[in-house]
Amino acid sequence: MSAPRSSKQAAGEAAARLVKNGMVLGLGTGSTVEFFLQALARRVETEGLQVIGVPTSQATSSRAEELGIPLTTLEHHQDVDLAVDGADEVDPEFRLIKGGGGALLREKIVAASAKQVVIMIGSGKRVARLGTSFLLPIEITPFGQAATRRHIEHDGKCKAFLRTSDDGGAFLTDNGNYILDCKFDKGIANPVTMHRKLSEIPGVAEVGLFLDLCDVVVEGRDDGKVEVHKKPAK
Ligand code: A5P
Repeated sequence: MSAPRSSKQAAGEAAARLVKNGMVLGLGTGSTVEFFLQALARRVETEGLQVIGVPTSQATSSRAEELGIPLTTLEHHQDVDLAVDGADEVDPEFRLIKGGGGALLREKIVAASAKQVVIMIGSGKRVARLGTSFLLPIEITPFGQAATRRHIEHDGKCKAFLRTSDDGGAFLTDNGNYILDCKFDKGIANPVTMHRKLSEIPGVAEVGLFLDLCDVVVEGRDDGKVEVHKKPAK
């Protein structure tokens, strides 16, 4: 008997079915993306589906290569048809917190280059207010990190924690930067204002708030079923 699918697996497999022949894909990062890549690779192999992917991290790049998914870069393909990624939180307005895997900067650049962005989530990721169940990741430059952290805590009225690796040293992103994980006592009341304030702080490379970058949410449920939510047109 095969093992039951997790909610993330259900979402990843459903998102892979949205891919069409000839698409340039943004390939996100994380454990839900892993299920998407596996399902996409099966379609490439069995259906002869032709796609090319722009990976958002070194980890995704290596994994896609292993799975036989052809890769490109934004330098070669600046117009991405569809970006597919995970998220740490999704609010009712399709706004996201991302960066749990530390790939937020590249993920945001790729999402912003895509005609359509599909976000896959497992259960437990929908929130009424961003920043309530997950700390907000902010990528900062190592230079001046203590000063940048102080500014973030002051302007964001939050507590910022430097992300560390398993060896106890600072976690380094693919861009050679640090991540601060920021705790907001009552969540983020106004994500637009907060995004602007935090993005203006020198030393901040990217903020893990994705405010207008999600068109479709593919939500896997614990029973293996999937719900697809489309953002209403403005
Ligand atoms: C990577 O930096 C993140 O933005 C991920 O997309 C996010 O953390 C979701 O990850 P999982 O799919 O592993 O939950």
